[in-house]
Amino acid sequence: MKKLWGGRFTKETNKLVDEFTSSIHFDQRLALEDIEGSLAHVQMLGECGIIPAEDADAIIIGLEKIEKKIIEGKVEFAVEHEDIHMNIEKMLHDEIGPVAGKLHTGRSRNDQVATDMHLYLRRKTTEIIKLVEEVQKAIVRQAEENVDTLMPGYTHLQRAQPILFAHHLLAYFWMLERDKERLEDSLKRINWLPLGAGALAGTTFPINRERTAELLHFDKMYPNSLDAVSDRDFILEFISIGSILMTHISRLSEEIILWSSQEFQFIELDDSFCTGSSIMPQKKNPDVPELLRGKTGRVYGNLIGLLTVLKGLPLAYNKDMQEDKEGMFDTVETLEGSLSLLAPMIDSMTVNQDKMYAAVSQDFSNATDIADYLVTKGLPFRQAHELIGKIVLFAIEHQKFLLDVTLEEYKSFSPLFGDDIYAVLQPKHVVDARNSYGGTGKQQVLIQLQLAYDNLNHKE
Ligand code: ARG
Repeated sequence: MKKLWGGRFTKETNKLVDEFTSSIHFDQRLALEDIEGSLAHVQMLGECGIIPAEDADAIIIGLEKIEKKIIEGKVEFAVEHEDIHMNIEKMLHDEIGPVAGKLHTGRSRNDQVATDMHLYLRRKTTEIIKLVEEVQKAIVRQAEENVDTLMPGYTHLQRAQPILFAHHLLAYFWMLERDKERLEDSLKRINWLPLGAGALAGTTFPINRERTAELLHFDKMYPNSLDAVSDRDFILEFISIGSILMTHISRLSEEIILWSSQEFQFIELDDSFCTGSSIMPQKKNPDVPELLRGKTGRVYGNLIGLLTVLKGLPLAYNKDMQEDKEGMFDTVETLEGSLSLLAPMIDSMTVNQDKMYAAVSQDFSNATDIADYLVTKGLPFRQAHELIGKIVLFAIEHQKFLLDVTLEEYKSFSPLFGDDIYAVLQPKHVVDARNSYGGTGKQQVLIQLQLAYDNLNHKE
């Protein structure tokens, strides 16, 4: 089969070379973007009089037919035509004849592929932002239902101070909010148009890049043709943001796995999000959050992979750069899959408020509050801390929690104690007393929830 670039060749390409160099089995995902870019390019060529208007029209009609066929799933891509760009150009030849050859005037596959990927990532980034919002909505919904649910807050995975479950969940809301902001910000850089850079040096034709940019809704054009065809940092940025986002998803998944274990029993995942064991009939495994945690690894891998591909490349285009695609597609698909599952999984989980409350009442996580109590009675914090350490030790030795220590016992440690200490030690009081901005006290959590709604409704 004759290649579109076959002129200077005397031999057919080796079959193995065709297979090795071909990218069509993955870059066919760019088909619609490739056509979108070509439509803008050819319209500009026609408007600038670089090709006759009727040729431009014929090409546009041909491309639109191919687009329709692709959407209807009626095309077959061929390895011999290497990649999506040449597959579509070949289809255009079959559709409208030799005039198809005018489409590539003033353009190279190098600026073409870069443009396709900008278009693709712009669309996907916008879609992923929406998916992140769906997860945020599920978090807010669970938080709303749990503004009175007390649970132990942890440091070092040791019970530290009681908190509201809503507060814990909302921590993830803000992580996702920053991920969303990062994605939105990256759109600024995705919105640079490479087309018009040619192979590397620009073109001899009097093209109008402003017009192409306008047709494709880009805010800017790469001001340097070498940079335009060599830059993949918009993809690196996307996968970096994706890696941070997956880190957040992974930490939340890990907590969901812990919370749904027999040891915690704080939440129960809906049956529809769990799987069983082929040997142990009693098991209900949290496979979904485990896989979310596991898939984080492949996104990090995609980032390191692309960084490594790019680090030693001289300008401008090198075939190595074709390796930018699979990691990008895989990251997009992993993020889409993960976020789509996370939202309904959070939404459908059951919160075991009694278990959480039992955990809070049977520990020493109110110890800080006795110290704060003594501080309000005039004792310096360091001294109070030392004293409460002793009280905790005493309580452990006598198999009591702090609410069970008698007033006489307290008074034997310090005359500053009065019977108002017991109200201070109630878990609910302990939580609500943390009424500083951003704290876990209910009043603050309600303010935080309102802020979360406002962010979701884009009124800041
Ligand atoms: N399939 C190629 C890629 O993805 C398109 C650009 C090819 N350019 C070239 N000069 N061979 O990188």
